[in-house]
Amino acid sequence: MNNWTDFRDRSQGRRHAGAGTFLIEAARDLRTTGAVAPSGRALARVLTEPVGARPSRPMAVLEAGAGTGAVTRALVPQLPRGSSLDIVESNPRFAGRLRRLVASHPDLLSRPARVEVHQTRVEELDTDARYDVIVSGLPLTNFAPDQVERIMSRYMDLLHPGGILTYFAYLGTRRARALTASRAEARRHAEVDEVMAAYQRAYATGRWSVWANLPPAHVWQLRKAGVSADNMRHAMVGAWQ
Ligand SMILES: C[S@@+](CC[C@H](N)C(=O)[O-])C[C@H]1O[C@@H](n2cnc3c(N)ncnc32)[C@H](O)[C@@H]1O
Repeated sequence: MNNWTDFRDRSQGRRHAGAGTFLIEAARDLRTTGAVAPSGRALARVLTEPVGARPSRPMAVLEAGAGTGAVTRALVPQLPRGSSLDIVESNPRFAGRLRRLVASHPDLLSRPARVEVHQTRVEELDTDARYDVIVSGLPLTNFAPDQVERIMSRYMDLLHPGGILTYFAYLGTRRARALTASRAEARRHAEVDEVMAAYQRAYATGRWSVWANLPPAHVWQLRKAGVSADNMRHAMVGAWQ
């Protein structure tokens, strides 16, 4: 058996086990886990689209809130050669699974990239690194508005000028909360939406609906203003040729 068939077979097993682990972690702490099942492939594909968009240039990528690796699995094969990937996950059991996924992924064995799993909250990540793309899986609408503000401003600090943040939000959660939760909880959700709307007004470049996910979700892309040094170099080389 070659690396790929071996990995694919183990991966399918892990995917099923991942769904079980996810459910257990959701039962333990639904607010932080944010879902009862990992993202589906369609959602993972849309979320990671900016990573595959520039296949010829190495990039620095951060994935925040990677869970059991549903999005990581879509992301790794798209990483251009020479790229780096930091994976941040606050749940130690998920972080352990992610380390095993990274250690056995055939794309990383055959095309080494610097990949590191950090078991911490993304707002506490201790780094001077800056990223071309941040893929966020965090359940922001479960958090307090001031925590969401801290996370969003941290993401913007962590991006290079011209860098892209992608994240998703499940459809209909605010409406469901307004109908089923306490008034305080519905107000908290509305305040989080206001924080997010301010970032969307300032930085959004696109929003896609992914219906083939349970539950369906919107994927947002936000772009930090400015031109990255890399883009500038390419533009100048183009102008000189
Ligand atoms: C909705 S799940 C998404 C998991 C995975 N990205 C997917 O799409 O299947 C959210 C994940 O974010 C993690 N998480 C929650 N708060 C976090 C934080 N402050 N920093 C890093 N990870 C966090 C949770 O443990 C969980 O694994």
